[in-house]
Amino acid sequence: MCGIVTAISTADIVPVLLEGLRKLEYRGYDSAGLAIVSNGRLARLRAAGRVAELAALAEREHASARIGIAHTRWATHGVPSERNAHPHISGGLAVVHNGIIENFEAIKSALQARGYVFESDTDTEAIAHLIHSKLAAGADLFEAVRLATNELHGAYAIAVLAEAEPERAVVARSGAPLLLGVGEHGMYAASDTAALLQVTRQVIYLEDGDVAELRLASHRIVRPDGSSVEREIHLSSLSADAVELGQFRHYMQKEIFEQPQALAQTLEIITGGGSVAPQLFGARALEVLGGVQRVLVLACGTSYHAGLVARYWLESVAKVPCSVEIASEYRYRDSVPDPDTLVVVISQSGETADTLAALKHAIAQGMQRTLAICNVPESAIVREASLRFITRAGPEIGVASTKAFTTQLAALALLTLTLAKLAGRLPEEQEARHLQNLRHLPVAVQKVLELEPEIERWAQRFAAKQHALFLGRGRHWPIAMEGALKLKEISYIHAEAYAAGELKHGPLALVDRDMPVIAVAPADELLEKLKSNLQEVRARGGELYVFADAGSEIPESEGVHILHMPEHYGMLSPVLHVVPLQLLSYHAALVKGTDVDKPRNLAKSVTVE
Ligand code: M6R
Repeated sequence: MCGIVTAISTADIVPVLLEGLRKLEYRGYDSAGLAIVSNGRLARLRAAGRVAELAALAEREHASARIGIAHTRWATHGVPSERNAHPHISGGLAVVHNGIIENFEAIKSALQARGYVFESDTDTEAIAHLIHSKLAAGADLFEAVRLATNELHGAYAIAVLAEAEPERAVVARSGAPLLLGVGEHGMYAASDTAALLQVTRQVIYLEDGDVAELRLASHRIVRPDGSSVEREIHLSSLSADAVELGQFRHYMQKEIFEQPQALAQTLEIITGGGSVAPQLFGARALEVLGGVQRVLVLACGTSYHAGLVARYWLESVAKVPCSVEIASEYRYRDSVPDPDTLVVVISQSGETADTLAALKHAIAQGMQRTLAICNVPESAIVREASLRFITRAGPEIGVASTKAFTTQLAALALLTLTLAKLAGRLPEEQEARHLQNLRHLPVAVQKVLELEPEIERWAQRFAAKQHALFLGRGRHWPIAMEGALKLKEISYIHAEAYAAGELKHGPLALVDRDMPVIAVAPADELLEKLKSNLQEVRARGGELYVFADAGSEIPESEGVHILHMPEHYGMLSPVLHVVPLQLLSYHAALVKGTDVDKPRNLAKSVTVE
């Protein structure tokens, strides 16, 4: 979490810093700040709240400079406040930081013993004083940052500015993202490319352990031991439009409606091809996937729900046993490692600390067959895994994950077919049918999006509720879970999901006329069972909102509201059924007036434990 921007240029960099922060606000948005060196003096501006507050402050103060660092925060150590907002200062030195320093208490005590006074509750301030102590011992800024970072444990991306050396800024990373931008009029650094598109498309991805110096027309990168290293310059293909709102009110809405296109892009690799091939997952795929006996999926949040859907697919189609675990649990659990298990990590951002740690934990236990399904090609998780499938959803800015989820499902469907084929369990005609359904998926999702006006009407009634219950069965149970997560995340309505058959084992006690019950009702082999569960709800006066496939024959009646979905879409039906649930939570949040794209207490990339 947290976003960092750094700039040194021939022109005023304050607008660049602020625009960069606006693009990074999805990473954290509880306070923001910047430091500049102007007329030989270090100046710091900080504001609690959004980047807009900082921008207003910068305007009032007529801030302008040729060099600066900036930060938008998601609080870890210390409450969100101006006092804890970055940059943190030590003497004439300012530091911004993304990540968590695990040994900051020890560093802090040692520095306090030497007379350093701490003004904030953050771990970042320890970095500032540590670097200052190196400067005081005679190191120059570049060297001081390198020496200091060698003492840090944990994850960090930092940017440092010193009043005494106004011709350069120094940045460093380990375990948190940071890239350099090579511009026509200067050098830049940021947590992601979107922040720099305003000034350049030429980017350099820093590696863990890199420390880089940015000057007006040059840069230098060293490793922790001080040896120089060259890193390639990439031309980013990210379009500015992809990170603009355009005609939409919110990124979440835009991203829900981008799903047909995101799916089409993700599935482009099978366009025209008559069969699935292991190479979809990378050059080493045959070697890694051949002989796989089991699959273990590790992920968090929405990505975990994608894994839960895949379990049904992998076991029913490929006949490969599959377990799915929340990454934060797996990483600390005593589990039984198995070298023939394929470890699949799923992550939109590729930065999620728990998922990355779970992957490393699995590898450390000897599980070398690893696959990352991810939306960010250069992310830490992708680099760590032996195989990769990059979903091509485009940047997802809204904190609530939508198009990332459906494209993850598309990737997992391809994995299912690939493993089924490798195991000799996918007859040609079945393969052709599955591929045809996958290719048609964008059109099928487009059809579901047309139901928005009706869902909008339903949302009006939901917004007044305190609680909601989501029900599903089989491969649609994880879809019910995803619907509940979306609703609570952005509308703050408490929502729980249950496998409908579990209702009578406890949650039925909650059902009364004030508890709306949302049912995912595909016309599949479990429909009749689900109908019985819905009867149980009605018999207790519960009001039902049912997303029913054509032909499911659930009649509308008092207390039973039906939204008519298109015809059942077989194995891929979960991809269709999640869409109305995304729209329902979006519209419920709109009615409630919550901050849809930046829900309270959350951030898009969860780079801390
Ligand atoms: O980037 P990741 O997919 O690894 O993120 C995992 C979760 O933090 C994420 O899916 C979260 O649950 C979403 N905000 C839900 O909408």
